[in-house]
Amino acid sequence: MKNIPDFHKWKADGKPITMVTCYDAATAKILNATKVDTILVGDSCAMVVHGFDSTVHATVEMLATHTAAVRRGAPDKVIVADLPFLSNRKGIDVAMDAVDQLMKAGANAVKLERRKGNIQLVEHIVDSGVPVMGHLGLTPQSVNEFGGFKMQGKSDAAARVLVEDAQMLEQAGCFSVVLECIPADVASKVTAALHIPTIGIGCGPSVSGQVLVINDLLGMDADFQPRFARKYDNLSERIAAAVNQYCADAQRLEFPAAGEYSASLAKSAR
Ligand code: KIV
Repeated sequence: MKNIPDFHKWKADGKPITMVTCYDAATAKILNATKVDTILVGDSCAMVVHGFDSTVHATVEMLATHTAAVRRGAPDKVIVADLPFLSNRKGIDVAMDAVDQLMKAGANAVKLERRKGNIQLVEHIVDSGVPVMGHLGLTPQSVNEFGGFKMQGKSDAAARVLVEDAQMLEQAGCFSVVLECIPADVASKVTAALHIPTIGIGCGPSVSGQVLVINDLLGMDADFQPRFARKYDNLSERIAAAVNQYCADAQRLEFPAAGEYSASLAKSAR
């Protein structure tokens, strides 16, 4: 099994890191048998799985449930679980209780979006033996402040703040930092300023690794095609075709066919 110290080795060896966001046991079981280095149980589950319009609706219980499911499906993978919106802003005891729930659900580490004032909390979580992945740039929990899912770090001043924030997260003990939707040259500067790896989404190639949400990678939503997400399949179409085929077969009485059911009690008992 890969582990958190591997992240340092991968950065030192120049090996690009791969991470996929996943939410359920069935998909995690498939991922467990792939080469992907790590699985993120992201708070994007509030949007992707539960249909909310932002990650603000994710809760610790929601994340813990999905983390436990992913752990059951992927016993061999490093699992990082997101600390949801405000779960780490209600005092240290509440924050540590959230961390505890996610770790007990099966996470190996937690991910936390950088906000002013949470460096001490990162230190405390790390000092408690829980690896922390930072998150900078378009941190979706701040969507209301940003006025939408908009690229961040576009001005020189904002880029400087990103580099400083990343260095603070590293000094606080983070083992890696996710960079989301910032210009590629800024992501490159942040990556160069750190010893720990950066994992990018919508940040170009000059990072230490990439992360994609499994639903985006598989093309599960025909209406969602952000520029940064490459569709490696078109499952929304293929699933719809399979379901329509099943409906047609059932309506023509071609499903179930001989061999797909037991003709008599005597046979079914065998
Ligand atoms: O919640 C999530 O899936 C994420 C990734 C997109 C980085 O935070």
